[in-house]
Parts: sequence; structure tokens; C-alpha cells
Amino acid sequence: MDIQLNQVGYTYGKGTPFEHRALKNVSLHIPYGSYIAIIGHTGSGKSTLIQLLNGLLQPTEGTLQVGDFKLPVKRQKGLQRLRQQVGLAFQYPEYQLFEESVAKDVAFGLKNMNVPQELISARVREALGLVGLDVAEYADKSPFALSGGQMRRVALAGVLVMNPKILVLDEPTAGLDPSGHHEILEMVTRIHREEKRTTILVTHSMEDAAHYADYLYVMNEGTVWMEGTPGEVFKDPVRIQQAGLELPEITRFIMRFNEMQAAVRPDLSPIPHDIFDTAVLVDELSRRMRKGGEGR
Ligand SMILES: Nc1ncnc2c1ncn2[C@@H]1O[C@H](COP(=O)(O)OP(=O)(O)OP(=O)(O)O)[C@@H](O)[C@H]1O
Ligand SMILES: [Mg+2]
Repeated sequence: MDIQLNQVGYTYGKGTPFEHRALKNVSLHIPYGSYIAIIGHTGSGKSTLIQLLNGLLQPTEGTLQVGDFKLPVKRQKGLQRLRQQVGLAFQYPEYQLFEESVAKDVAFGLKNMNVPQELISARVREALGLVGLDVAEYADKSPFALSGGQMRRVALAGVLVMNPKILVLDEPTAGLDPSGHHEILEMVTRIHREEKRTTILVTHSMEDAAHYADYLYVMNEGTVWMEGTPGEVFKDPVRIQQAGLELPEITRFIMRFNEMQAAVRPDLSPIPHDIFDTAVLVDELSRRMRKGGEGR
């Protein structure tokens, strides 16, 4: 179930005084099973782009295809099928929790599809398991009695319960403390590895994009400004800065290290700039230290 966008554009309030062209000429191809990050400054079009993927918005220019589903469509019929396959978790998804118990909230989407109750219970258990919440402990609790991080897990379980082939997360860590932030991203990454579905992460964090995703799209003023693996994207700091973004901290460190090393020991090889994992960088530095400055 690949995603393909051909010259897609989206204009809000077309034909009104508030008309705003939020996306233009967006062409991209996301193969099934990819782990993608979409990054870009505020207002660059990230949320607009992902709402097109499940038909919540329809392109006002160009065409889009998700699996065999093509947009725009004239009739709303059939969009339901697309929405089951593309699970979209908005920013602060816990604001949409409303049921009296965790189990009922997670079950909401399935209930609407008239799925039999026994099947619902099994799927709810499975979805809560995926987000690391024990059914026996949480099923009957009020979602409003939980911590912020737990509420977010419940909300994500409500998306996962539909078993979407494509999981799209808009800033899933917004507003969480550093440990909640880390836990949610580790969880999303684990689910991606186990389930092999396409994962699309919208994030403001260059660190997270580089560390977790295999392929990045950098949005700038409604266009795809850059795309590639983290190594490809972050090797062009000037273009990144033109998009109003910064390099990941680890990349800035490596670039500075290489500059200083080149000044004092031009004979030594630079550290590759496509290291985004601190543990890998530490290994690389200690390997160099052990070699006593041979540096290769
Ligand atoms: N409902 C709307 N009506 C009119 N303009 C809108 C609407 N929603 C978004 N926009 C505008 O479209 C542009 C893209 O918005 P979008 O929400 O896609 O950006 P974003 O990259 O998700 O930003 P953020 O990082 O702040 O979430 C912005 O200029 C925004 O003001
Ligand atoms: Mg947004």
C-alpha cells in the first residue's frame, strides 16, 4: 500500500477573501513499510499534508493515491475505507477522549463499524498491549484519571485498534516531559518494527527525525524543500537553515569536531556526519582514542 502524490496542492477557503494556498506542487512516493518523518517550521504545511493522506482534506490541485484509492473523489462514499487504512493521530489526541472508561474509548471506532462485541474486546486488549497498557489494570479506569502520557497512549490505542496499514502521527510527543517524549517515540518505533506498517511522524525535532526515521521530508512554505535519508538531508546545513530549521545537535557537534580536527591534525579522517545515535558516536570517538590518534 504505497502512497503517491502527484503535483498536489491544497488551498484553504478557495474563492473566499481568506484563500490561502497551504501546499503546492507536492510530489512524493512513500513505499509501504517505510518509517518517514515530516519536518518543517510552523505553518509549512505538515498537518495539511497528512490530512490529505486519509481524505480528511481533498487535494485542490493534483492527484493522490494511497494503495488503490485515488483522490480527489466526488462522493464521500468510500472515504471510510481509506480512513480505516490510514490511521491519523492528531496533535494532543487525548483531547478527543470522552468515554467513561479506557476500554470504551479505545473501542469507539470499532463500535461505529458494528464489529461484534467479542471481537472488539480482543482488539481493544491487543491495542492496549501495543501501547504498553495492561488491560486488567486500565480497561475500566476513567481516561481522565490517567497521567498525560497514559492518556496519550489510550488515544493512540484508539487509532491502532482499527489496525491501519499506515499510521500517521502529528507531533505525538507535543507537551510531554522528556521521559514521556522518549517513551512514546520508543513505543512508536517498536510498533513500527513489529508490525511493519508505514509510519509517518510529524515532528519539530530534528534529533527525533534523524534518530528514528529512515527517510525525511523537509517542508518549507507549502513545498517539499528537501528529501532523503537523514544523512543526505543534514549534510546541507545552509539549505536546512533556509527552511528555518537547525541541524540536529549531534550533527553540529560532529561538524565542529571535524573543523577543529582539520585545523590541528589535517592528516586525520573526519567523523562521518551521518551518525545520529549518541552511542554510535561514543564508540567512534573511543575507537579513535584507542588508536592513539591514527584516526582511521
Ligand atoms: N483551516 C484553515 N484555514 C485557513 N488557513 C489554514 C487553515 N489551517 C491551516 N492554515 C494555514 O495553512 C498553512 C499550513 O498550515 P499547517 O497547519 O499545515 O502547518 P504546520 O506545518 O502543520 O504547522 P505547525 O508546525 O504549526 O503545526 C499555515 O499558513 C496555516 O496558517
Ligand atoms: Mg501542524
